[in-house]
Amino acid sequence: MIYLNGRFMPLEEAAIPVLDRGFIFGDGVYEVIPAYSRLPFRLAEHLRRLQHSLDAIGLKNPHTDAEWGALIEALIGHNAGADQYLYLHITRGVAKRDHAFPKGVTPTVFMMSNPLLPPAPELKTSGVSAITVIDNRWLRCDIKSISLLPNVLLRQQAVEAGATEAVLLRDGFLTEGSASNIFVVRDGIVLAPPKNNLMLPGITYDLVLELAAADGIPTQIGPVPEAIVKRADELWLTSSTREVLPITVLDGQAVGNGRPGPLFTRMDALYQQYKATVMRQPS
Ligand SMILES: Cc1ncc(COP(=O)(O)O)c(C=O)c1O
Repeated sequence: MIYLNGRFMPLEEAAIPVLDRGFIFGDGVYEVIPAYSRLPFRLAEHLRRLQHSLDAIGLKNPHTDAEWGALIEALIGHNAGADQYLYLHITRGVAKRDHAFPKGVTPTVFMMSNPLLPPAPELKTSGVSAITVIDNRWLRCDIKSISLLPNVLLRQQAVEAGATEAVLLRDGFLTEGSASNIFVVRDGIVLAPPKNNLMLPGITYDLVLELAAADGIPTQIGPVPEAIVKRADELWLTSSTREVLPITVLDGQAVGNGRPGPLFTRMDALYQQYKATVMRQPS
């Protein structure tokens, strides 16, 4: 079952007017929230980022956090499976086609759930491959915008090169992946680009840094030059649905010794431990 504008219904019954500004302009924002054992993971953080995205596009949040919490709980309840990923999508609503914001229009709110499968074990034992590409997106990559055409084109470049992810470089520095954040390990230190307008502030990015700090893994947040990315001992990609994955091949070359590195193994263990603890907590 999906949720659309106040009602739960089968996906097949859901329909959107063609003049929805999400369809016409890509005028909207979204969130992806994992749920483990039917409990949303890092919900407060996801709702905070949603608020940031809505504020950035001048769209009033159609729900309070408590309302979102109840809707999300109901969405999980309407769908089978212990682990689900929840997709929330808000557009500026339906109006005559005109770029400027329409007045008095109700936003469109859509939510769906899909089964959340953990990354296949071989992705962790062998790693994934990536290519570097020029980050040619706009300068508000901190907004989780539904206008994903640049990300779609960048990811397609990776797929056509036989790779899993595109690692994006802007003006000689690492930004993020086409649908993930990227960490670099060099000489035992985890390097991460700073959260700014050039990348999405990943919920997993924050969690990885939090887990590293708690376990005494050295981290350094700051601009990561392309040369360091290309000479990394380890590269990781992170996202809510893919967790933490090692990138072991970059532009056809082995990253480090071509095997997932020791800090990846340690971080993955911390991540799995954290997930398990959160799942055991009563809500
Ligand atoms: C462009 C981009 N950066 C980073 C991320 C990772 O964010 P999160 O960890 O919140 O899933 C995503 C998530 O899909 C993304 O699309």
